[in-house]
Amino acid sequence: MTSTDTAETEILEFHAATIPGTEKALCDELRELGFASVRLNRGGIPFRGTWHDGRRACLQSRIAQRIQVLVNRFPAPTQEALYAGIRQFDWSRFVSYRQTLAVSAVCHGSAINHSGFAALKVKDAIVDQVRERTQRRPDVDREDADVRVFVHLANDKAAVYLDLSGEPLHRRGYRKTAGEAPLRETLAAAILRLSQWDRQSPLIDPMCGSGTLAIEAAMWSANIAPGLLRERFGFERWADFDDTHADSMRALRGRLRSDASGQCARITASDCDEEVLELARTNARAAGVKPAFKCRSVLDTPPSGDIGTLITNPPYGVRLDKDPLFSRQLGSVITRLHGWRAGLLAGSPDYRRDIACKPRFSVPLKNGDLDCEFLVYDIE
Ligand SMILES: C[S@@+](CC[C@H](N)C(=O)[O-])C[C@H]1O[C@@H](n2cnc3c(N)ncnc32)[C@H](O)[C@@H]1O
Repeated sequence: MTSTDTAETEILEFHAATIPGTEKALCDELRELGFASVRLNRGGIPFRGTWHDGRRACLQSRIAQRIQVLVNRFPAPTQEALYAGIRQFDWSRFVSYRQTLAVSAVCHGSAINHSGFAALKVKDAIVDQVRERTQRRPDVDREDADVRVFVHLANDKAAVYLDLSGEPLHRRGYRKTAGEAPLRETLAAAILRLSQWDRQSPLIDPMCGSGTLAIEAAMWSANIAPGLLRERFGFERWADFDDTHADSMRALRGRLRSDASGQCARITASDCDEEVLELARTNARAAGVKPAFKCRSVLDTPPSGDIGTLITNPPYGVRLDKDPLFSRQLGSVITRLHGWRAGLLAGSPDYRRDIACKPRFSVPLKNGDLDCEFLVYDIE
């Protein structure tokens, strides 16, 4: 066995970062995808696996925002200990002078309590190691680094992670344009799973905006891996990413492509704004899925036809304030959908107040900075 083979079979600890409130959905997803030692945890889901599993998670998880791997853990009660602990690890596998680097940190309950300072110390230690070995230093690039390092300092102990994802995983690559207040693709995927939709029965989003929910639903239903449209992930820019790794990624992408079923549930997306609907059509084409798009108001043409699931993200904030009657009118449309399940990602308490039935369940979620509630109703 070569040292590369050994490294490939090593069992590592991963951390799948996620949007607050979506932890349970991500935990279920990772278990369903066959990852090992998946544990429900606030703020992100730990799991174990090989490097191959980490790369597969980047391609297959619809809900994770980032996949990070733990590379070192050590006591760091002082800045000297932090610097020395980082220097102990051999960074040459990931960072050469050709790679650009970004480091971020968070600190809790530690003597080092300034995250910017901790990140700077870690960056210095990595750069100094590379420079001593090669006489050249990697540059820092905060916007688009080849290698992203994340340090978590808690109670004077440092845990050092490398980010496999690169750009956050909600950037699937299909959304070239967006309407007002688009949902992150990862949040859309999480609420679809939280709604318990079966991926086969009809699904509609009657206020689809740029189409995120409908596109994510179609990709999930047809088993299209969400990372297949991404040009590359963070780990594909690391120093060790060679031809053997590239071949194995090609094989993995090929296998996931052939796993796509070509069959998709009946999904309908509508919006009252023709311009925004055109963006949704463009995004769906880029994603390779074909929901039916219709320009209409949910108030004038309420959903009809086969009983199914309605999942939507109605307007809130400034737009809702302009029309205080909207939540009441929408409430009366929804309560007439007998036999349907309806899930609303509500960014305003008006929706809970104005829908005249009790939600079957609700989940508090963050949509960007906005506190939202995902309200799920079974309409009798
Ligand atoms: C918060 S945005 C939805 C964003 C969407 N989830 C996305 O990812 O882009 C709300 C959408 O509701 C639409 N809308 C507002 N009133 C409507 C109505 N009466 N009927 C249908 N759509 C409506 C708006 O045009 C807007 O696109």
